[in-house]
Amino acid sequence: SVSSQYENILLEQPADGVGQITLNRPKALNALSTPLFKELNDALQKFDEDPSVKAIIIAGSEKAFAAGADIKEMKDLTFSKAYSSNFIQLWSTTITNLNKPTIAAVSGYALGGGCELAMMADILYCTSNAKFGQPEIKLGVIPGAGGSQRLIRAIGKAKAMEIILTGKTFSGEEAEQWGLAAKTFPSFEELMKGATGTASIIAGYSMMAVKAAKEVVNQSQELPLSEGIKFERRVFHALFGSQDQKIGMEAFANKTTDIKWSH
Ligand code: CAA
Repeated sequence: SVSSQYENILLEQPADGVGQITLNRPKALNALSTPLFKELNDALQKFDEDPSVKAIIIAGSEKAFAAGADIKEMKDLTFSKAYSSNFIQLWSTTITNLNKPTIAAVSGYALGGGCELAMMADILYCTSNAKFGQPEIKLGVIPGAGGSQRLIRAIGKAKAMEIILTGKTFSGEEAEQWGLAAKTFPSFEELMKGATGTASIIAGYSMMAVKAAKEVVNQSQELPLSEGIKFERRVFHALFGSQDQKIGMEAFANKTTDIKWSH
């Protein structure tokens, strides 16, 4: 482990090709302070550049993925400081621009910025009794790290509006039923095993194909259908210029299962 350089996060490699970042501010239920986010971004960047990491897990503790932005840090923030520093903008720039796929493993509280962070990941897994919510309304503000936009795209306006206006929480089970979470697990241990298993599967594929797949799926959130389909086709075409397309299709033809990808 090389975690010692950080105060608010832990790093490990739970399986071959899998990098895990664990938010570790237990006394504040992993409230997302600026120092924590700087460390998270730094670690994400390093994993993205590290050839031994092919998929990234972002986890919290059993009790809290993250209970939101750090309210104590924000309490005295002024409009002019928030505006001039573009407060919270730095949260999403690194994580949403990574080459490698991310899995958020959510147990316990994922509130406010915690829910928003989980929604920035490519895949969201959670325990069935995880507690999601956007409670900012109770603090006299609104979600500020993409919550209103990403929640609506994930679960639709009807439910997202109700959740954001009431501040009430919803469970991991509901998150899965509504399409926000890809899968739920009965316990924290099962969640971490499941996240590691999925990350390992992805880490076994061509990193070029994985990057392309992630890119086209994410573009679906930005583009009209006809443009998205055109983009997908162009990227699909481009992969025929890759070595891994030859390697993958030849392996199928030769019934080889142990594939050595070039990327
Ligand atoms: N910021 C700063 N500190 C926080 C925090 C947060 N978001 N959430 C919890 N903590 C701290 C508490 O202040 C407390 O610290 P002290 O021991 O020093 O008092 C410690 O973590 C433990 O919390 P509680 O004693 O409150 O624990 P609990 O089990 O009774 O309650 C909870 C848990 C329901 C999650 C409660 O802590 C809570 O409501 N937290 C705030 C949730 C919230 O409003 N999040 C949204 C933040 S705004 C935001 O995120 C803006 C955005 O869109 C980016």
